[in-house]
Amino acid sequence: MKKDVLFIEGLGGKRTLAGEISVRGAKNDMLKIMAASLLFEDTVHITNVPRVGDVRVLFTILEKIGARGTQKGTEMSLAAPTQAITTLDEERAKKLRASVSLIGPLLARYGSVSFPHPGGCVIGARPIDLFIETLQEMGASYSADKNLYHFSVPPSGLRGADIFLDIASVGVTETVMMAAVLAKGTTVIRNAAMEPEIQNLARYLASCGAHIEGIGTPVLSIVGGGLLRAQGRVYKVIPDRIEAGSFAILAALAGQDVHITNINPDHLGALLSLFHKAGVNYHINGDTLAIKKPRAPYRAVNVRTQKYPGFSTDLQAPMVVFLTQTHGEGLVFETLFEGRLRYTDDLVRMGADITMFDPHRVLVRGPRNFVGKRLEAPDLRAGLAYIIAGTIAEGNSEIHSIEYIDRGYEDIEGRLARLGVSIRRRGA
Ligand code: UD1
Repeated sequence: MKKDVLFIEGLGGKRTLAGEISVRGAKNDMLKIMAASLLFEDTVHITNVPRVGDVRVLFTILEKIGARGTQKGTEMSLAAPTQAITTLDEERAKKLRASVSLIGPLLARYGSVSFPHPGGCVIGARPIDLFIETLQEMGASYSADKNLYHFSVPPSGLRGADIFLDIASVGVTETVMMAAVLAKGTTVIRNAAMEPEIQNLARYLASCGAHIEGIGTPVLSIVGGGLLRAQGRVYKVIPDRIEAGSFAILAALAGQDVHITNINPDHLGALLSLFHKAGVNYHINGDTLAIKKPRAPYRAVNVRTQKYPGFSTDLQAPMVVFLTQTHGEGLVFETLFEGRLRYTDDLVRMGADITMFDPHRVLVRGPRNFVGKRLEAPDLRAGLAYIIAGTIAEGNSEIHSIEYIDRGYEDIEGRLARLGVSIRRRGA
């Protein structure tokens, strides 16, 4: 099969991008409400749906489970089956990490689930040990064979448990929360993740009959009950804060006057704080972030990825590209994933001055001019960082393996071209 390639003609350091770019719904919010639709007695209607690869794959996996879905533009409806096929489509489930989001709802409602090791971006080991531990604490039994993991619950169903998460994992927090909605008794999740996507999901579930307290805090308390009822309540997917942040970094490096619309500025606090320290000329007006040319050269800042509301690991690669263009030295500490700085080798090939101390820490010295190169997108987020790097470079860049980028970003070349990025897609 022919694979698409992105061709970028770099601006060679000029700041010419201008205009408006609208942020789409967050993939990581969308995927979770799709999974949570299995907790409902009736149909869940979703709006602001991003049209991206991962959503299409999960939609097909849900259909194979027995769910009925329709999609038109940015609207989707999902209705859970009364009886489900609880072995996930192996080939598709291996393609995305979020397939693991289905195990909580499937287990809680239908009593069993079998699935392969979930796929997704190769950004470290990404084990599932915490899913196994926590679901076992809720009474599930677990086994594994060569290809699949299996969970099942006793006839009495899952039971509530008091769970402390050693790592504030996004996926585990969501899984336990969704399972707890249909479990017997109370579940408490301590050191829960607090990402905006988790909060949006929790609020919607609560509005549809779930008993969830502590939303937006590290202690969630859930009292289990029966199936939820949407009764026409529409789930609005929140704006993608990673897309917004990546566009903001592109605008800071190559923009003259760029307006990023449909954002939630409250979700961008960690990035905007670093922008402020670095000297980025930005203004927020309602749901729009405007970025203009800087008044003085940017200053380097240190970056440490953390759970929300700290700086997101998903913005780390674009931020490293930003640091290559600032004056001074910036230390980047990736605390979540151990494989998530490998892409920096490619930035060095383009001209960056980056020293890796260990798999979690790099020192970036700037500013450095970039030259265009042939690049392989290593994952979804670093793929977008390469687009930013190609845009600021002198000369042409080619980005391969862009199926990673398409998994999470809708029509990326069309939207960036409208800002003035010279980018086009071609079959290789
Ligand atoms: C989600 C996001 C991803 C983001 C990440 C961290 C989705 C679909 N993906 O991924 O974009 O980068 O949050 O903000 O929402 N861990 C274990 N054992 C487990 C589970 C996780 O050790 O059983 C570790 C992971 O390897 C990682 C850390 O926990 O080091 C945090 O990962 P987690 O928050 O679970 O990320 P995801 O939910 O996979």
